[in-house]
Amino acid sequence: MENRPQWGTRAGFILAAIGSAVGLGNIWRFPAVAYENGGGAFFIPYLFALLTAGIPLLIMEFTIGHKYRGSSPLSLARMNKKWEWLGWWQVAVSFVISTYYAGIIAWSGSYAFFSFGEKWGKDPEGFFFGNYLKLAETPGDIGGIVPGVFWPMVLVWGVTFFVLLKGVKKGIEVASKIMIPTLIVLFLIIVIRALTLDGAAQGLDAFFKPNWDTIADPKVWVAAYGQIFFSLSIGFAIMITYSSYLPEKTDLTNSAFITGFANSGFELLAGIGVFAALGFMANQANVPVSEVVAGGVGLAFVVFPRIISEFPAFNGFFGFAFFTCLVLAGLTSLISIVETYVAGVQEKFNISRTKAVLVGGGLSALLSILIATRGGLYFLDAADYFINQFGVALAGLVEVIAVVWVMKELKNLQNHTNEISDVSVGTWWRFSLGIITPVVLGYMMVQNLVTNIKENYEGYPTSFLLYSGWGVAVAAIIIGIVLAAIKWDKDITIS
Ligand code: ALA
Repeated sequence: MENRPQWGTRAGFILAAIGSAVGLGNIWRFPAVAYENGGGAFFIPYLFALLTAGIPLLIMEFTIGHKYRGSSPLSLARMNKKWEWLGWWQVAVSFVISTYYAGIIAWSGSYAFFSFGEKWGKDPEGFFFGNYLKLAETPGDIGGIVPGVFWPMVLVWGVTFFVLLKGVKKGIEVASKIMIPTLIVLFLIIVIRALTLDGAAQGLDAFFKPNWDTIADPKVWVAAYGQIFFSLSIGFAIMITYSSYLPEKTDLTNSAFITGFANSGFELLAGIGVFAALGFMANQANVPVSEVVAGGVGLAFVVFPRIISEFPAFNGFFGFAFFTCLVLAGLTSLISIVETYVAGVQEKFNISRTKAVLVGGGLSALLSILIATRGGLYFLDAADYFINQFGVALAGLVEVIAVVWVMKELKNLQNHTNEISDVSVGTWWRFSLGIITPVVLGYMMVQNLVTNIKENYEGYPTSFLLYSGWGVAVAAIIIGIVLAAIKWDKDITIS
């Protein structure tokens, strides 16, 4: 498209890419995923997935966006018209993620303020599920809007719209330049404090102690790939869109390495900080760390409030700082997730950016009201699990196979990136994308599919999973195919 927006500086682009990558996945998800999947032993599948799938795919996505200069659907359509649907599928996956992601940021925002005066009292668990979320009894029950979640969510969407309406350079780039350094400073303060608490070493020991039995379990490998894909924002249209705003002369490979290592570095830091704090809590209660640890939602909104209440001093400040970190990390990621469909819709129908933000973002904001209802947490949990396993990771796998084996584009992409980047990619990159990722991830995906068909996730009722889990994942594919069938505006050049 003529007059394509552009990042102001390369540093601005890298900060925006790091802003997208570093998100709730790093702070809210990684520590628990690593712990549940073998602790120290998890680092083997994790590093394997990072080096053979994460970074190679990031380089590939940066190259696709830069070479074809379009959102994910437009870039893929330009590569081969038959694969445009894959771009829309990824955009649809992003759309789903944005609906619940906004919800978690809203909770975090509320909790930042609850930290002053420790509003959760003596029973953070009862407070979170009962008083705050007012959680319905049965999965699938909607049970009315919860104002305490709804209003913060309106605010989250307000900020996201504000940034996106300002555009790529004046909106996304400026927001990333403010939010990411603030996030890093705040987070470092928290981690250093956590490391100096009594019992921190005990927590780190629990985190890093390898449980080698888990290495042979396919579930652990799927968890590692899933974590890498979600955390690095690959497989759901984001990095293709962001790199399409780069100037012609730029360095793609190096930027991908910086983004990949910064993201994993932050993730590791989060793991260290969280487990040091868990060690402190276990020490206070005189129990093993395994008794105080919890996954996902429970870790951030039940265990952390408990830890904050036990802090020796400045409880309110540290609570506020921790939840503000979640908000900042979440917002820069949400912005990138919404940008995928803003760009897609804008190009497909040749409408203004403002219209695309209002229509695309508006629709997602409307749907996200479901997360602000009393049944919100169940929908969030099911959609998050299925859209990650059979949305993000599956779309990433299909993308690799399509580009390498069906369209046979890898050589062209390699030439493109090597022409402009300082560091060239060669055998490692081609072998990782052409053989290792399709074989390992493909095998794990099939295993995982069988497990999920045999066992209901979290023991939820089948009917509930059919529409809020499987249904959502399948709908994303169907929407992808339908959108690809619509003609591009006549002013958009595809080939
Ligand atoms: N990459 C983002 C995260 O980690 C989506 O949360």
